[in-house]
Amino acid sequence: YVAEIDASDTEKGTYPHFMLKEIDEQPFVIRKIIQEYQAEDDSIKLNEDVRKAMQKTDRVYIIAAGTSYHAGLVGKQFIEKLANIPVEVHIASEFSYNMPLLSEKPLFIFISQSGETADSRSVLVQTKALGHPALTITNVPGSTLSREADYTLHLHAGPEIAVASTKAYTAQIAVLAILAVDTARVKGLDLSFDPLQELGIVASAMETLTDQKEEFDRLAKEMFETTRNAFFIGRGVDYYVVQEASLKLKEISYIQAEGFAGGELKHGTIALIEEGTPVIAIATQENVNLSIRGNVQEVAARGANTCTVSMKGLEKDSDSFVLPQVHELLTPLVSVIPMQLLAYYAALHRDCDVDKPRNLAKSVTVE
Ligand code: G6P
Repeated sequence: YVAEIDASDTEKGTYPHFMLKEIDEQPFVIRKIIQEYQAEDDSIKLNEDVRKAMQKTDRVYIIAAGTSYHAGLVGKQFIEKLANIPVEVHIASEFSYNMPLLSEKPLFIFISQSGETADSRSVLVQTKALGHPALTITNVPGSTLSREADYTLHLHAGPEIAVASTKAYTAQIAVLAILAVDTARVKGLDLSFDPLQELGIVASAMETLTDQKEEFDRLAKEMFETTRNAFFIGRGVDYYVVQEASLKLKEISYIQAEGFAGGELKHGTIALIEEGTPVIAIATQENVNLSIRGNVQEVAARGANTCTVSMKGLEKDSDSFVLPQVHELLTPLVSVIPMQLLAYYAALHRDCDVDKPRNLAKSVTVE
């Protein structure tokens, strides 16, 4: 089976919006990434210079904006947990004005779909001047950030046209997982985790989800058609995904949304819960399954309209949706799909311009 993502494919075809087309392309993108990063003997194929840079560094600094920043948060987990290297993730526009203390051998990883984000470039210019190595992970290999960094890893996601990023996010997470595992293997760390095989399982799970659009259309209508605000909660890696979920909803439906850590509810946000306030929880992690469900009960008791998206094996009867099971580390790749679809249908039900939301640009080339 050959994944079909064509670099010249900038047409919507039969799709009403680019965003929906790009959501649907995600299983193909994941399969394309598996192909591109797989050597003939099924091991990982990766640029040797990138390998060396990962071995040499004592701390990785991930720099990004928007959705790419959210992918970076997930990537931090992979690199720390699998490759045992400390990682800091920074919003580009903050880092460039307020540089933290750096380690002795920092490696900068710029994550950018477009490779043109001015805030990220400003950080690259500064860190290059200090003599630090840089790797850009991008969907556009000839882009500014790719040309100016020492190394590039390609996302192979095909052109992303909709302003709200979808397939670039999942591609970024997949490439970061491969990079982390490769680094761990070269270091001689013993891993039972085979990312290429696990990503194959993810691609099939993604397909199962994109085949259930009516379900998310219905849920979006019920939760978001008339609401003024919405909250997303999660713990652990689900906390990173709910930040992306709330960004998606804000960007295209203009609903005021917030994604936060379940445990922080009681420290302020729970004051905002009223009768009917939508609260969406993601529950894919065994170690926090009970606590996130406790948080859902807390908001439900105060009148919230709750919706829990859980993972097979951890589900409860009351859950609104159960995701197919994938490796615990890779759950963001599947849990984000319902979030993207919910945002998409919420925007449709509110008559918003899905592909070209007000005030937003696909790539922000000014600081
Ligand atoms: C803009 C886009 C977002 C994107 C962000 C970073 O704000 O609207 O979708 O996540 O820029 O873009 P980049 O190309 O650097 O990933």
